[in-house]
Amino acid sequence: MEKVTVKLNQTSHTYNIKIGNNLLKASGDWARMCLSQKTKKIAVVSNRKVFGLYGEAVKKSFEKSGFESHVFLMKDGEKYKNFHTLEEAVKFFTEKKLTRTDTVVALGGGVVGDLAGFASAVFLRGISFLQIPTTLLAMIDSSVGGKTGVNTKFGKNLMGAFHQPNGVLIDVETLQTLPRRELTAGFCEAIKQGAIADKKLFNQTAEFLENYSPNRFKNYFKDEKFLSELGKLIAAQVAFKAKIVMQDEKENTERVDSKSRKILNFGHTLAHALEKVTDYKRFKHGEAVGYGILFAAELSKRLDILDENELNLLENVVGRAGALPENCDINSREVLEAFAFDKKSINDSLQWILLESIGKPLIYKNKNIPQTFLETTLKEFLRK
Ligand SMILES: NC(=O)c1ccc[n+]([C@@H]2O[C@H](COP(=O)([O-])OP(=O)(O)OC[C@H]3O[C@@H](n4cnc5c(N)ncnc54)[C@H](O)[C@@H]3O)[C@@H](O)[C@H]2O)c1
Ligand SMILES: [Zn+2]
Repeated sequence: MEKVTVKLNQTSHTYNIKIGNNLLKASGDWARMCLSQKTKKIAVVSNRKVFGLYGEAVKKSFEKSGFESHVFLMKDGEKYKNFHTLEEAVKFFTEKKLTRTDTVVALGGGVVGDLAGFASAVFLRGISFLQIPTTLLAMIDSSVGGKTGVNTKFGKNLMGAFHQPNGVLIDVETLQTLPRRELTAGFCEAIKQGAIADKKLFNQTAEFLENYSPNRFKNYFKDEKFLSELGKLIAAQVAFKAKIVMQDEKENTERVDSKSRKILNFGHTLAHALEKVTDYKRFKHGEAVGYGILFAAELSKRLDILDENELNLLENVVGRAGALPENCDINSREVLEAFAFDKKSINDSLQWILLESIGKPLIYKNKNIPQTFLETTLKEFLRK
């Protein structure tokens, strides 16, 4: 089993992230270790699909460890990460008479994690919270860092809170049932993290994908070596994200250095625009990030910041993550307009996260990139 400790200076909160296989059946003992002895009740937040696969094992283990557990199942899908579901969850906690010493557990992907986390942040002004992420994206990204929230009709993730969990339990075996596209999406985020972290994490991710294709993922789970390599990769990814979060817990808007939490947005300017212009229907978020990092790298190369070989390497590794949905019919004008919209959310001036080399991100002001150059690069990129 691998362990990553997250120590937050700003709030002096510390918790552990445990990574391994076959961990769900002992999740009750793990929860006991993470929580105060006063905790009696646990509200498990999940959805029908995930709970149907893994819920009983978790619930049984919680009960064996002396918790009274209650299950709130939300509907499956990004569109249910909303205010209405939040209200339903709070209603459920109230009906089950959860108190300030009780706990919410998220069992599922990033949607469940964000909603359950936000519900635990606001219920009784904040109660403790545990995460059991079951998608690759949630394991390496959304369950680490304390960002929680819901979408509103005014925009995605527009309401939320920083609310750090008391523990995260990652059972890599749950990835056995994850659909191929969700794996590809998660691996694109993993490649993103590798590209901004260092050559070691990038190469580890690239080699893993060379040996184990997301197209045949299910077949590998009987192989001990695979399970061990998967655990190690996820632990290394988590450690990187935790390192960034620890020294910039609340994403300081002033910071523009290469260690600021902002660098995690590498690939996200184009990704958000692609998601928006296709009405959030065509791409999984991570798939859009796959295109996003390639575009940021292409821009970097054309600005003479990044070497062509590194761009080619990045293209090759993104290719190993699995096929991405078509993008050649997307109108570049609409994408450029969506960039302008993104601008408002970051202090009125769009910043690109570019790459000087693998492991060396660079925050670059949009105003230093000529508009026509950006347009041409985008048009050619979408035509490729
Ligand atoms: N808080 C953060 O820092 C942060 C960071 C990145 C993304 N996010 C959020 O995360 C969300 C995306 O999360 P996601 O990619 O995990 O998507 P998701 O939660 O929608 O899960 C994807 C699909 O996989 C299913 N699923 C989950 N685990 C499974 C398993 N083990 N086997 C089979 N099916 C399984 C889900 O039911 C769902 O249908 C978005 O809302 C995004 O905004 C948050
Ligand atoms: Zn992302």
